[in-house]
Amino acid sequence: MNEQNPNVENKVGNYWDQRAAAARPISWMGHPFISKTFNKRIYNSSAPNWGLGLFEILKRKHLKQGKKFKKAIAVACGNGRKEMRLVKKGMVEHITLYELAKNRIEEGKILAKNMGIENKVEFVYGNAFEMEKEKGKYDLVIWLNAIHHMMDTPMAIEWSKDMLISGGFFVMDDYVGPNRFQWPRIVMETCNKARAKFPKSIFNRSEQFPKKRHQVLRVVDQNLVSGVDPSEAADSARLLEALSFAFPNRQEFLYSSGVSTLALNDISSRILDKRYEPFIEHTINLDLDLVGKGHIGFASTIAIKD
Ligand SMILES: C[S@@+](CC[C@H](N)C(=O)[O-])C[C@H]1O[C@@H](n2cnc3c(N)ncnc32)[C@H](O)[C@@H]1O
Repeated sequence: MNEQNPNVENKVGNYWDQRAAAARPISWMGHPFISKTFNKRIYNSSAPNWGLGLFEILKRKHLKQGKKFKKAIAVACGNGRKEMRLVKKGMVEHITLYELAKNRIEEGKILAKNMGIENKVEFVYGNAFEMEKEKGKYDLVIWLNAIHHMMDTPMAIEWSKDMLISGGFFVMDDYVGPNRFQWPRIVMETCNKARAKFPKSIFNRSEQFPKKRHQVLRVVDQNLVSGVDPSEAADSARLLEALSFAFPNRQEFLYSSGVSTLALNDISSRILDKRYEPFIEHTINLDLDLVGKGHIGFASTIAIKD
């Protein structure tokens, strides 16, 4: 979205505005046991929330005692909750947060106030690639579940590199799988194998959960994906390759084939009880087996600009 396309930007912003207004169910990344399991298995961290394991590594390996990043930037931040945690924890002095959904920005401003960090956070509505042209202005660029929404992902990575001072950090935790979620058959089959282990009642309607869930999933129609949100996984498949060219100096965590999100995301609110943990664990095991076979849907990275 380097070239301004106001229609697409409005559509993306409106879609995510509506999502902000609607009650959001728990996603797989918001499920406490799933988050804890990934933190443990990928980062060897006991952190409870999604992605904190990655930031523990960033802090332990790259931030000297008492040091913090001075100026950070994140694009497609939603309400910025995850990024603002870094400010609250004292890892980041100031962060600029770009978003296209105005409701999310409003949510984020309230959050910043409640966290007592509003003078360390700036929310900006608009196209970061157009509005941020000064090179070497930041020492940290963060993309959290965000860069897969960029229309030209190699350009977004090059822009990130341009934004950084030499020695600055690029940190990403994101979807890097097939464009528009066009999963290969092995991923879908494995996802359905994982779902088949869960008690069938999980997928049924109930008073608490009025929507029926499909036990067996199929690959979604790509026109449906782009029709709902034109930015959704528009160019995600090029991310890992583009990263390897732009940031040869990096630590990379290839942590999911996509099986966990596919199998667990829509039922996450229904499987909070401890008795479901063995089924979740089974799903994550199948997921990591596929990662081992080279099927990558999600990855995180800590990269340094040389
Ligand atoms: C999956 S949500 C993720 C939000 C947040 N990063 C999180 O992890 O909770 C994707 C967000 O990207 C935003 N978005 C999409 N394209 C964008 C762009 N070009 N610039 C800024 N925000 C964008 C959407 O409005 C939406 O809030």
